[in-house]
Amino acid sequence: MTDFTLNGKPVSTTPATGERLSETLRESLGARDVKIGCNAGDCGACTVLLDGMPVCACLTPTQQAEGRQVHTLTGLQGDEIAARLRESFQDFGAAQCGICTPGIMVAAVALLRENPDPSEQQVQDALGGVLCRCTGYRKIIEAVLAVANPTPALDDPVGHTGTAIRRLDGQAKVEGREAFGDDVAPIGTLEILIIRSPYARSAFVLGDLGGFISAHNGVETVLTAADIPGQNRFGVIPDFADQPVFAVNETRFRGEAVAAIVATPDFIRQFDPADFPMTWEHLEDVQTIEQALEASAPQLHKGREGNIMCGGFVKCGDPQGALDNADITVQADFTTSFVEHAYIEPEAGFAQMVEGRVEIHACTQAPIMDRDALEIILAMDASRIRIVPTGVGGGFGAKLDLSVQPYLALATLKTGKPVRLTYSRTESMQSTTKRHPAQISLQIGARADGKLSGFKFFGNFNTGAYASWGPTVTNRVPVHASGPYRIADYRAETQAVHTHCLPSGAFRGFGVPQSAVAQETLFDELAEKLGMDALEFRLINALDNGVPTVCGQVFEQGVGIKACLKALRPAWEAERAKANAFNAENEVLKMGVGLAAGWYGCGNTSLPNPSTIKSGIRADGTVVLHQGAMDIGQGANTVIAQIFATALGMPVQQITLMGADTDVTPDAGKTSASRQTYVSGNAARLSGQALRAAILAQVNAGETAGLAFGDGEIIVTDGELTHRINLSQLPADTEGYTFRAEETYDPPTRPLDENGQGIPYAQFGYAAHLVVVTVDTALGLVKARKFVAAHDVGHAINPMLVEGQVQGGIAQGLGMALMEEYLPGRTENLHDYLIPTMGDMPPVETLIIEAPDAHGPYGAKGLGEHVLIPTAPAILNAIYNACGVRIRHLPATPARVRAAILEAGK
Ligand code: FES
Ligand code: FES
Repeated sequence: MTDFTLNGKPVSTTPATGERLSETLRESLGARDVKIGCNAGDCGACTVLLDGMPVCACLTPTQQAEGRQVHTLTGLQGDEIAARLRESFQDFGAAQCGICTPGIMVAAVALLRENPDPSEQQVQDALGGVLCRCTGYRKIIEAVLAVANPTPALDDPVGHTGTAIRRLDGQAKVEGREAFGDDVAPIGTLEILIIRSPYARSAFVLGDLGGFISAHNGVETVLTAADIPGQNRFGVIPDFADQPVFAVNETRFRGEAVAAIVATPDFIRQFDPADFPMTWEHLEDVQTIEQALEASAPQLHKGREGNIMCGGFVKCGDPQGALDNADITVQADFTTSFVEHAYIEPEAGFAQMVEGRVEIHACTQAPIMDRDALEIILAMDASRIRIVPTGVGGGFGAKLDLSVQPYLALATLKTGKPVRLTYSRTESMQSTTKRHPAQISLQIGARADGKLSGFKFFGNFNTGAYASWGPTVTNRVPVHASGPYRIADYRAETQAVHTHCLPSGAFRGFGVPQSAVAQETLFDELAEKLGMDALEFRLINALDNGVPTVCGQVFEQGVGIKACLKALRPAWEAERAKANAFNAENEVLKMGVGLAAGWYGCGNTSLPNPSTIKSGIRADGTVVLHQGAMDIGQGANTVIAQIFATALGMPVQQITLMGADTDVTPDAGKTSASRQTYVSGNAARLSGQALRAAILAQVNAGETAGLAFGDGEIIVTDGELTHRINLSQLPADTEGYTFRAEETYDPPTRPLDENGQGIPYAQFGYAAHLVVVTVDTALGLVKARKFVAAHDVGHAINPMLVEGQVQGGIAQGLGMALMEEYLPGRTENLHDYLIPTMGDMPPVETLIIEAPDAHGPYGAKGLGEHVLIPTAPAILNAIYNACGVRIRHLPATPARVRAAILEAGK
């Protein structure tokens, strides 16, 4: 028996020997505001106060809490510092997805109690052990500093587009009430343990499963491919669906599922998967593109000869002829690595049978896609499947694909009981998708006047064992590999190559960050060879209104790349002068300045991509917005509500938000491809406008009339006239709505022809980044010192959230550039796989550019993916500027930078 005080109340518990305090708090005492990101002391999400000192609860045996005070975030409700911190976190947008927020806030309370007015460095020292994958940390630092030095609160009473308001869903995050995938199952629920392949490729034989079940107390059942009522395959692109829920006979990547045990929590806790009755045989595998393309290589899938899954192609003009006539050409080969999404919330969920229906509560970016996939796996009509997304502790693309959902569904169907599944950090890293490693060859030419003259790009992408979003990557890259520039003579070709690695999928940018590394660094080389300023060279070639893209698409408006580049000019000149002065004084530590640009098409490439948003007004005057666009931290709940409120003409704070649930929200599509602000935002605008039109028509009011809702009526003020609509006298529909509007928006695109010519996207967003780095030339250590980021977002619906996206994206771009490299079997945890910490992120100056887009809601463009596309090449250009070496293989780890310096004889 262990007795301690939890959040001011005495508790008694009987933990197992060495049980983690985090587990006791969550699973015995119900303190689900303590989050688990790694169970290994690497992420800090589980931070609690033990006698006022912050500790990782996952590294603290419960017995050590005997007789002591334990506080979690929810136990600090009455604490004055915590109260000020909550306000500050809301005003700065310091909580995006919110999974790291309880740990960060608890650590910040401890700091502020000891030091009420800390310096930035002291904040970084105190909070540096807690990882955040969304925010880029800067807003967290600002929020903590502002507790002692408050800034004006974000309290706009209307909150229409263009206004920085607090997140509408933020309060639950800063109070620790947001429920994520692992937070919703009742204590004691049956759990699932997946048996996974230890080898990249293996044959296997299952043993006596019946005997195993009957020999072990607590084992309810075992699931294998034989338990799948429908098809044992899934995939996000129906024509390419190829991934089994459970492998049959042979596995194709390390970590692939072959079976699952459904058992009590006690059994799962003590069971060693090595004791599962089965045998493995390690088979010859291919893990690199070169190996997979060899003529003798084992073939992963029938019908995909040579292990080539698919390709993409865009061509215009005469690229070879232009290169032949160029005054100068540059050519290089580039490689990039697997990059892990590293959201702090591993995949998790809960499922139960409710009146004969399967109900799944899990973290996801795409609830309708999940339901459609389960329909095929379960051979069950979609009407019998309900997906209720939980809070999502970061996604960045990987939570578009199925993870825990099929196992949860199969287990609850087979047992008839509620079940729960949470991936360990290692399982999450082993089995979910990654950014595609790329091998890129690029040749670019230019004339003496700086105009581009010929561009030839070839990229192989390691798509791993299954398709996932590989076809999307191969299609997107040729469209985007030009960057936001006019290139009349262009050829870009891609291939997705299967290997025995885990599937590569969607990760913020769908391959474009990789291609931008090649294009933007070679642009710097061209500028240097031409003796031109790198910014000027880009401006000479930048796209503009009325100028065709490489797909022959001509935008007559809304092309903001020149404005982004010009916005960087003052910093470009000032920072280079500072770097020159610094370098004149320093021999070993060198400073460099780099820049790069990027663009990104919002939504699906030349495919239908609709979103539907429903709204209604209840008889009591409540305005309800059925907002099914998943908010994974980026702010869709707030931004889409702001757009709707603007269209309807009411304060956004008065809206009742109905979150995503396949039973109650129409299909707002997936949260992917930077489409929600643009596509779902437009559906919300149309829904608001339709609702407004219906109300005005009811009383024949003019278009400019004002609306007020509440107390069972709508008051319409039309000039001198006031109309009152008594809602109780209007018929209500089956959902209780007296007025309702359901509207759909689908971007106008056109298919690409065999040369990739057409209209792939209705809008692009544009960006340009500048970075200052220092390079320790003796160690090869690169440190980013400052970013200036110019982003054309068309219209900033919520400028505070725009800044949050920019800073968070830059942090991920920095990780990709300098440290992140997923190696199957070697970096399968957050100790060996490094992501940026608070100490790695320098200040970011965000310059918001607004070149309105004719298709965007109130001119707005998407933003999520754009933000990391220029970051990595800007850093590589800055490294060259600092020490004269070109890094062609990412990440630019200290060892690689140092080796390049030595090789160059610097
Ligand atoms: S869960 Fe404890 S440090 Fe990550
Ligand atoms: S807000 Fe920090 S991990 Fe998402």
